[in-house]
Amino acid sequence: MAFSSQHGGNIIEAAAVMGVDANSIIDFSANINPLGMPDSLKRAIVANLALAERYPDVEYRALHQALASHHHVPQEWVLAGNGETELIFNLVQQLAPRKALLLTPGFAEYRRALTRAGCEITDFPLAEENNWQPDESLLLALTRDLDCLFLCTPNNPTGLLIDYELLLAIAQRCLENGIALIVDEAFLDFLPQEAGLIPHLSRFPQLYVLRSLTKFFAIAGLRLGYMVSANTELVNRIRQQREPWTINAFAALAGEVILNDREYIEASYRWLSTEQPRLFNGLNALHGITVWRPRANYIFLRCDIYGLDLQRALLEENILIRHCANYPGLDARYYRVAIKSPTDNDKLLDALRRVISNKVDAGE
Ligand SMILES: Cc1ncc(COP(=O)(O)O)c(C=O)c1O
Repeated sequence: MAFSSQHGGNIIEAAAVMGVDANSIIDFSANINPLGMPDSLKRAIVANLALAERYPDVEYRALHQALASHHHVPQEWVLAGNGETELIFNLVQQLAPRKALLLTPGFAEYRRALTRAGCEITDFPLAEENNWQPDESLLLALTRDLDCLFLCTPNNPTGLLIDYELLLAIAQRCLENGIALIVDEAFLDFLPQEAGLIPHLSRFPQLYVLRSLTKFFAIAGLRLGYMVSANTELVNRIRQQREPWTINAFAALAGEVILNDREYIEASYRWLSTEQPRLFNGLNALHGITVWRPRANYIFLRCDIYGLDLQRALLEENILIRHCANYPGLDARYYRVAIKSPTDNDKLLDALRRVISNKVDAGE
């Protein structure tokens, strides 16, 4: 079909393709917390509208202090960005790697940032037979000629968490071989039991952990992410060389407010702990659909019904899901859906039952 967006969340393009109003489309293609922006943040923004009239602190001291104390790390280890995406590009530009390894399928912006920096990229394909998980063979691929490895846990689009012991072994191997390891933990906030690699940073000075606040706190339009690393020299170089004021005053304020909103955080955990298994089971029961058990707020699936373009068929039902045909390593059978509110999840399941039974009844 004509709908070709590189990212989820492109309801404008989807609406144009379908000739409908963007507001009438339910967006399952971007993985945003359906509880919406925290009320504490709405109140803080309204109470501080005057912030728009002056420049934000160019050093973002209060923001960096809030992020550092949240993770119990020194403030010099933390650098916030206009969404995590800005930091992916800043970091690659500063590291200037000549040779990088990327796991496929994976988030597209690593490849774009590396390509822009003129870096040679080698792919490390994740295999469906291995449940899309990396194993010890990845350690053998981490040789001295490499400069950089990107990992994403839980991975996008598969929604699977990398085994923690393996992750630490990878970090050790990268340290020994002089490889910069960039670990994208954009969705880790959805897993309350998982600490990720931030607690290990002091052992691994070539490790850079990236975090996004846009998904868990539903501020994709406001934009805020951050990087944490014990390599203060490199963090400082980015701090000094990048463009000033890229984080707007309200996004900076968000970072000072939302991490303390325990009520919102707990409500989000409650929502996900019921809707994640419910949507998984609903999808798993569908004819012709294979689903991978998710760890975050989105679900990866394969549709084996011949001739059924699931994205197109669901758009006819005013539902947008992410097709994964443009991920290296995948093809048109693979899709990703966000986990949304109970009502929206039911709409997705109902629509899927309809489009699948229509196709099957048509005997195609
Ligand atoms: C794995 C992953 N990392 C990073 C990002 C970008 O996050 P941000 O909105 O903070 O730039 C995304 C957005 O979809 C993502 O899926």
